[in-house]
Amino acid sequence: MKTILTLLFTLMCFISFPQQKSFQPGAIWPDNNGIHINAHGGGILFYKGTYYWYGEHKIAGKNGGLAKVGVSCYSSRDLYNWKDEGIALKVNETDSLNDIASGCILERPKVIYNAKTNKFVMWFHLELKGKGYDAARSGVAVSDKPAGPFTFLNSFRPNAGYWPVNVQPFHKKSVASIVKEKYCGGKGCLPAPPDSLNILGRDFKGGQMARDMNLFVDDDGSAYHIYSSEENSTLQISKLTDDYLSYSGQYFRVFTERYMEGAALFKRKGKYYIIASDCTGWAPNAARSAVADQIFGNWTELGNPCIGEGSALTFKSQSTFVLPVQGKKDTFIFMGDHWMEKNLIDSRYIWLPIKFNEKGNPILEWKDAWSY
Ligand code: DGJ
Repeated sequence: MKTILTLLFTLMCFISFPQQKSFQPGAIWPDNNGIHINAHGGGILFYKGTYYWYGEHKIAGKNGGLAKVGVSCYSSRDLYNWKDEGIALKVNETDSLNDIASGCILERPKVIYNAKTNKFVMWFHLELKGKGYDAARSGVAVSDKPAGPFTFLNSFRPNAGYWPVNVQPFHKKSVASIVKEKYCGGKGCLPAPPDSLNILGRDFKGGQMARDMNLFVDDDGSAYHIYSSEENSTLQISKLTDDYLSYSGQYFRVFTERYMEGAALFKRKGKYYIIASDCTGWAPNAARSAVADQIFGNWTELGNPCIGEGSALTFKSQSTFVLPVQGKKDTFIFMGDHWMEKNLIDSRYIWLPIKFNEKGNPILEWKDAWSY
């Protein structure tokens, strides 16, 4: 009797939630329970044959941007079908003064595995409860298992008391007294160009601002944190300590005054690439791309990698991660979010294959459905 019931249940699951065999960018993406995946601004870790997708758990309605639950985790072996692994990092429900108190803003979580410590390390953009986007901190959590539970360790601003590798002499001189008061979620927040205000110098003592972020682990095991800094005007790339739990003090400024968000860093054939967005709040804009021979090197902008219809708005999406597909040579997936500003839980995922032109520059083109 028990066997028959099990068989019936399996059959029902199969009928209700058929296995997916392709990506359908922009469509509802049901998990193993038939519920639209709730892992926005996400990133993926590959560990022992399984992909783990971490992302912002959004709630329904106009307050969907506040973290009331935490960081979601899903697992998959084929990237099309995802199992809900629950909440990998929970917000603190009891202490409203905790850094990750329920109602804080917790965005763009990413997880990397540290082979030396055998720990899974999560970083995320943290805004303290009730303080809008002013805190601009990085949060760090750790776990022994890929799906968690993760334990929150600390939050801070990057590199307090350190100058970047490419600091300019004027950064060490006067610091502006006029600065923007509130995060405006877009360009033009500052009353003057950021370097003339010396936002870098302003934040030298207390640490640099860090909002939209990503992690990247290089072939030698060195990990880097890339984030929108200096009132979103400039990207900074920071090398992490060997245990991946904090900053090493070595960092580099890129794309000064270019207001980039959603930056994703990846490596192909020995070169480093960034795909990022412009800075327009939840509204989509034209993507950016760039290449460099070294992470702390000369980055050359390559322009909008998108081509064809919808390219001016990155097919209504904003970059969140670039995923190298395991075991498939030269196969990279662009992961973007199509934000539904009024009901963020309904935001969709725009995953597209990255092609490379004859110069090796990344190219993105719309596809209704595709598989790798
Ligand atoms: C754009 C960022 O990319 C998102 O992560 C989020 O912070 C929104 N801005 C908020 O307006």
